[in-house]
Amino acid sequence: MSNISVDLTGQVAAVTGAGNGIGKACALALASSGAQIALLDISASAMEQTQQEIADLGGSSTAYVCDVSKVAEIKQSYAAIAQNYGNLDIAVNSAGVNVQQRGEDVTEEAWDKVLGINAKGSFFCCQAAGRIMMQQKKGKIINIGSAMSVVGYVKRSAYCASKGAVAQFTKVLAGEWASYNITVNTVCPTFIYTPFTEPMFRDQEFKEDVERRILLHRIGDVDDVTGTVLYLASSAADFVTGSMVMVDGGWTAW
Ligand SMILES: NC(=O)c1ccc[n+]([C@@H]2O[C@H](COP(=O)([O-])OP(=O)(O)OC[C@H]3O[C@@H](n4cnc5c(N)ncnc54)[C@H](O)[C@@H]3O)[C@@H](O)[C@H]2O)c1
Repeated sequence: MSNISVDLTGQVAAVTGAGNGIGKACALALASSGAQIALLDISASAMEQTQQEIADLGGSSTAYVCDVSKVAEIKQSYAAIAQNYGNLDIAVNSAGVNVQQRGEDVTEEAWDKVLGINAKGSFFCCQAAGRIMMQQKKGKIINIGSAMSVVGYVKRSAYCASKGAVAQFTKVLAGEWASYNITVNTVCPTFIYTPFTEPMFRDQEFKEDVERRILLHRIGDVDDVTGTVLYLASSAADFVTGSMVMVDGGWTAW
């Protein structure tokens, strides 16, 4: 668990991809900081586990099964969240996937899946959260982009396109919603140990390439990301919007 301390008592946070990895870690960190959590994920069983861990921390959560590539499901989930809580202070969009294919091999199916979940899904979750936050004239939206929002990497043309899209629409929403006191930022992690990446690191050559490119020469942990998310969710970041916060051990700096 991240050791940054922020007080989010009484606030409501929606977290997508909350069943595993970075989204789950964000849900737990926000709950530890006092927020009530609305979990969204395509996997009901994964969310059950997250809910149990939040309860073990003494926190409170509700779960919404939602495929974020389907706008109708996003609308339905956010309508239920608005009805249950009456307000929404924080939205973290972490649901994401990758299909590794070289450019010459990328299939239409893979492209549509990766862009549909990562780019379209994150955008329409922002829209659903933003519509609630506009009424309150207050809110913090945190999109999980990637170091690959700004750099390329082999077999990741669809993934890099999707994460570049996230960083770019974040800037537009930050401008459009600034007058509503809504901040919108992208957190851009490099490789982090999660169920998403653990199978990849069985390839030793790949692991060594990643560790070499990261200036700090280690793969990140989920709590390298949750510290930044808690900061952006807190009043300490009231003047931060439209930013890409690189949590990449220096990969993109060099
Ligand atoms: N792990 C990394 O190295 C890393 C690095 C940079 C960015 N990211 C980004 O962080 C985010 C989370 O990655 P992770 O490593 O925690 O992944 P993960 O696979 O561990 O968790 C992703 C979660 O999203 C859910 N999900 C998948 N498709 C969904 C859909 N259509 N609708 C709703 N939920 C869905 C899964 O069920 C899962 O619970 C992703 O956006 C990923 O691109 C990860």
